[in-house]
Amino acid sequence: MENGRLQGKVALITGGAGGQGRVEAELFAREGGAVLVTDIDAAGGEAVCAAVRAAGGRAQFQRHDVCDPAGWQACVAAAQAAFGGLDVLINNAGTISRHGIATIPLDSWNRTLEVNLTGVMLGMQICAPAMRARGGGSIVNVSSIAGMGAHYDAAYCASKWAVRGLTKTAAIEFVDWGIRVNSIHPGQIVETSFFRDGAPGHAESARRAIPMQRQGTPLECAYLALFLASDEASFITGAEIAIDGGFTAGAAIWMRSRMRDELAAAERAGAAAG
Ligand SMILES: NC(=O)c1ccc[n+]([C@@H]2O[C@H](COP(=O)([O-])OP(=O)(O)OC[C@H]3O[C@@H](n4cnc5c(N)ncnc54)[C@H](O)[C@@H]3O)[C@@H](O)[C@H]2O)c1
Repeated sequence: MENGRLQGKVALITGGAGGQGRVEAELFAREGGAVLVTDIDAAGGEAVCAAVRAAGGRAQFQRHDVCDPAGWQACVAAAQAAFGGLDVLINNAGTISRHGIATIPLDSWNRTLEVNLTGVMLGMQICAPAMRARGGGSIVNVSSIAGMGAHYDAAYCASKWAVRGLTKTAAIEFVDWGIRVNSIHPGQIVETSFFRDGAPGHAESARRAIPMQRQGTPLECAYLALFLASDEASFITGAEIAIDGGFTAGAAIWMRSRMRDELAAAERAGAAAG
């Protein structure tokens, strides 16, 4: 147990079989929360829950595709049966289709929007009444920096912008139910399938564009989700928080100043040479 920041709370984490969701499940359990881990990857999800339990935490796995409304009902029922209710929803599951507008097949477009956007909406729609029954709670929707600017992957970008807007709608709709709703916007995060499956050169070029000059870690994202899930964030709703090493704050101006320094150095070298 760390500091008991989720003591007495029950959290449902989608996409918890790997990447950020796995680390969130582990951290939330160490902070005293009970965790319902869901994913389409049953073997991975069961392994995460077994590891949490072996470390003394409380976790249960439920296989679930976030696009399935009946499955959402089953998840809420499972959280209530295993842990007595539901206080926190981390809408973390996500997928990506690596196409621009010119090439994306319609089924890839639809599937990406279905998982990344409709899945988030269904989660809020079906979990919020259960959270209301407990006097309120916290929902964290995992968007991306692709929800704050352009991105080469068209459907992914559209879905993550939509999650950002939907989060604000939810924050207002559920305020009277005592439910806070916020979005987080990771930049590039290591130890995830998104990171591993990137095109050659993608990770290094992305790293060079980040003012902090490094990628983020799942644990850094988990600590942000933990804060928003906990009562420490009791006055925060409808907010969007980038976790990106300064990328959205000003990667363009930061890269321009580096370019300026490189050009000045090249000019000095040229003048010295001749
Ligand atoms: N890794 C990054 O660089 C990065 C950056 C910005 C945002 N994100 C977002 O972070 C979230 C977590 O992704 P990650 O980085 O941990 O990647 P990840 O691929 O390692 O984890 C995503 C998990 O979601 C699960 N999943 C996929 N489709 C699902 C579905 N239909 N139903 C249920 N589960 C499903 C996968 O099985 C996987 O376990 C995603 O929403 C992603 O868009 C990731």
